[in-house]
Amino acid sequence: MTRFTTRRSSLLTRAAGCAAVTIAAAACFDLRPAPGLARGELIFDTCSPCHGKDGAGDESLGAPAIAGAMDTYLTAQLERFQAGIRGYHYQDAEGLRMRPMSRALITGDGDVESIVEYLMSLPIVDPPATLDTGDPEAGEEDYALLCANCHGIDGRGVDNVPDSPSLLHLNDWYIASSLRKYRDGVRGAHPGDASGTTMRNPMASGWTDERIDDVTAYIMTMQRLPRRIPGPPPEPLPPVDVDPSILPEGVTVAMVQEGQEIFNTPTGICYTCHLREGVGGGLAPNLTDDVWLNIDGEYENIVRIVTDGVPQPLEHPGFMAPRAGMPLTDEQVRAVAAYVYTLSR
Ligand code: HEC
Ligand code: HEC
Ligand code: HEC
Repeated sequence: MTRFTTRRSSLLTRAAGCAAVTIAAAACFDLRPAPGLARGELIFDTCSPCHGKDGAGDESLGAPAIAGAMDTYLTAQLERFQAGIRGYHYQDAEGLRMRPMSRALITGDGDVESIVEYLMSLPIVDPPATLDTGDPEAGEEDYALLCANCHGIDGRGVDNVPDSPSLLHLNDWYIASSLRKYRDGVRGAHPGDASGTTMRNPMASGWTDERIDDVTAYIMTMQRLPRRIPGPPPEPLPPVDVDPSILPEGVTVAMVQEGQEIFNTPTGICYTCHLREGVGGGLAPNLTDDVWLNIDGEYENIVRIVTDGVPQPLEHPGFMAPRAGMPLTDEQVRAVAAYVYTLSR
């Protein structure tokens, strides 16, 4: 730990030295390598005391493997720790341990890019299973039904849910501990944490520790494929083509357009369960047909169900949180309801 502290202050030297020099109105000397691999390697010396020399994690410190994650996910998480959106909860001992470390990385100065580049250059590690609890066969159905939408049937994440990480190359004790944190609102529950909300939804209702161990055990049996290569960005959404005369009173084409954006992006996260353009999937019903489960499909009832959510679905697992767990304003709810209204008409 002593070594760690020393290194951390040396990383901060430039910022401090700079400020002092600026007062003297002179030039500012940066003795560190330029952003890139070499800088990343230097920074990694401050990470390896906890995450291990090979980035394979250290159970005694609760620090997970970070040598097999995707660059986009690593960047997003480091920024989250820096912003205090992750690792802020008083019961999140591990997150609170990690958060100050993220602060040693100087924002906007190439530190995050450099360490992520370095982590991506490390050989991928596959920490062995350590938990002897958990029945993979029992966890398989949960995985297929409740996880594969976002983490992929092969566990490598998917393109259309931003920040949905790969679940391969992680430690089993860390997967189980994160799932308990999502369930208990210790991780992912910050009001500014859209991805955390996305992940907390499937963890709602009825997850015992045993069920968590089962799904974790199943994840550990998955084939350890190499990192997923991200596909091209999704096709742009088709322009809204709606006959204004079918719209209920007070609803405009502009609202439908705004609603399309909310529904199909992380603003509303509706598409993570109902899929793009509401075609439906394992987690949530099709909204483009004329079958309605909980309501009759009238506009005001759609507004109401989006506002209140569906605590006990009739045919689907999990649940739908009020406003999908997102900080949507009343106007945004009315807009997204307007879009849903047009989907089946
Ligand atoms: C003092 C120990 C410690 C040090 C040093 C440390 N970390 Fe961490 N880190 C942790 C712990 C503990 C967690 C797990 C937090 C949790 O359970 O939510 C973590 C989590 C992470 C995660 C999230 C992984 C995931 O799968 O979501 C990333 C990324 C990360 N650390 C990167 C780094 C980097 C980069 C450094 C060096 C700049 C670093 N850490 C230094 C303890 C540490
Ligand atoms: C609706 C999309 C969605 C579904 C369904 C989903 N996840 Fe996630 N998951 C995410 C996102 C997004 C994140 C990143 C959240 C964050 O930043 O904390 C995540 C994070 C995780 C993490 C943390 C990974 C890490 O490195 O820290 C684990 C473990 C996980 N999910 C497991 C599961 C399991 C098991 C299931 C099924 C029970 C599941 N997820 C269902 C979207 C989803
Ligand atoms: C975590 C997954 C999830 C998310 C995210 C989600 N929903 Fe749902 N939605 C559900 C489930 C589950 C149901 C109830 C299905 C059932 O009763 O079987 C539902 C039902 C609905 C219904 C009623 C359908 C019917 O036939 O009864 C509407 C309308 C709806 N959702 C709109 C939305 C909108 C708009 C958003 C985004 C703001 C959204 N949903 C986000 C899971 C989700």
